[in-house]
Amino acid sequence: MPAPILTSPSRWLLTMLSLAVFACNTPPPATDQANTSDYYQEKHRPQYHFTPEAHWMNDPNGMFYLDGEYHLFYQYYPDSTVWGPMHWGHAISKDLTHWEHLPIALYPDSLGMIFSGSAVVDTKNTSGFGKAGQTPIVAIFTQHDMAGEKAGKSDFQTQSIAYSLDKGRTWTVYDQNPVLPNPGIRDFRDPKVMWHEASARWVMALACQDHIRFYTSPDLKKWELGSEFGKQSGAHGGVWECPDLFPLTVDGETHWVLFVSINPGGVNGGSGTQYFVGDFDGKKFTNTNTPDTQLWLDYGRDNYAGVTWSNIPASDGRRLFIGWMSNWNYAQVVPTTVWRSAMTLPRTLSLVQAPEGLRVASQPVQELSVLRKDSVAINLEGGKAPKALPITGSLLELVLDFDWEGSLKGDLVLKFENSQGEYVQVMYNDSLVTLSIDRTAAGDMSFEPGFKGVHPAPLIGKTEGSLSLHVFLDKSSLEVFSQEGKTVLTDIFFPGEDFTTVKCSTTSGQTVTVKGMGYGLKSAW
Ligand code: FRU
Repeated sequence: MPAPILTSPSRWLLTMLSLAVFACNTPPPATDQANTSDYYQEKHRPQYHFTPEAHWMNDPNGMFYLDGEYHLFYQYYPDSTVWGPMHWGHAISKDLTHWEHLPIALYPDSLGMIFSGSAVVDTKNTSGFGKAGQTPIVAIFTQHDMAGEKAGKSDFQTQSIAYSLDKGRTWTVYDQNPVLPNPGIRDFRDPKVMWHEASARWVMALACQDHIRFYTSPDLKKWELGSEFGKQSGAHGGVWECPDLFPLTVDGETHWVLFVSINPGGVNGGSGTQYFVGDFDGKKFTNTNTPDTQLWLDYGRDNYAGVTWSNIPASDGRRLFIGWMSNWNYAQVVPTTVWRSAMTLPRTLSLVQAPEGLRVASQPVQELSVLRKDSVAINLEGGKAPKALPITGSLLELVLDFDWEGSLKGDLVLKFENSQGEYVQVMYNDSLVTLSIDRTAAGDMSFEPGFKGVHPAPLIGKTEGSLSLHVFLDKSSLEVFSQEGKTVLTDIFFPGEDFTTVKCSTTSGQTVTVKGMGYGLKSAW
């Protein structure tokens, strides 16, 4: 939940105070201005990431694919640019790149606000919601009863369902909600449901404060507890939220991956997403690694509450993911007007056998290549003096291979800068085997002292004498996919003017060759 609310009373107070402040400062509701030249042109407005036209957004919810459309729902407060009573906003895309905004899908009701959850295409009509051969889409979500919380109860989060018979355009809330009442656990939320073929049952992964519970159901209406996982496993610096459970195959073997977002207690501070690799028998998840193993999906500070799409056709076969590109430490105070928060780029997940063990790799979806407008071949040498790459612009994609002789001393630096002396840089240290984003000089940080920082990641799958980076720069974000996505960093920032030049250097003066492609990107809006 908004972690801000449930995890600490002071955060709740902060949220309420900001609500009071922003109530006077609320931007006008989104209008149909899609054809005006200033549409999506506000300062810091991402140009190829998903953002709502106006107002507050957090977690992605209920993503499913059907008949050529990728659906994205999201935690949405349509009356302000800070968190408030949650609705499910809705958008669709045919290519995971261009999005069409649709009306709000779910509104708070007598059982509470609509918190995070998932949606499934009920092909076998197990729910019985389909009439005369219709295939229902069923959304499963948490309802948060604010009155119950204020009254000091502990059972104010329950799981409810709603269904759509018109490809997600309109939703009917089930009249016998909640389908899963609260057994007395304050943090009892974010149901992610999947069909488990072997047991012919629906399986729900649910975040329960410091562990995940797996519930099973034949019809999405009656739920039975299968097992619990995680009280003694992984990171526990905060509340567990937004789980996802899915299979991935590597070298012909299928493993189960369990995502758990955690706030605070993320690897580089605040919100973060950890994962476990193991087996799942339809009721019980067994961790392959030792309980103290901590695996992180993304080492940047701005990829939270991410989950995967359901119902991707077998002929496609991808496991597609999107995350919320922010962090509860500052999400509500970042310096944007009109809207707050963006999603990460959609990513394809895979399981890879790295020298360190089985790891989840993330790669930007290939559909994004439709945004490329200019392409420039890059072939240069970097040393002590920063060397500009032969491409400029505020929307860039770089696919780069770096090579050097022997071991690389000091840092390899890829720096994105503007004419005001502000910059964000990616640094690779070959002896420490770390890849970092440094946003200490990336513009406005006045809104939150802890925003400033360098965020390091252990580089997974190191190769001697070389490094590969796939980097996306948008107006206010950088996403770095290294070594085919084995190590990922996602950070946001708010520069005084756009970063438009990219330079490469080494702190030791050692020579590095840089080869690859640079692409100027088009806006998706
Ligand atoms: C995660 C989260 C979820 C909750 C939602 C409320 O960011 O706190 O646990 O359902 O946000 O908006």
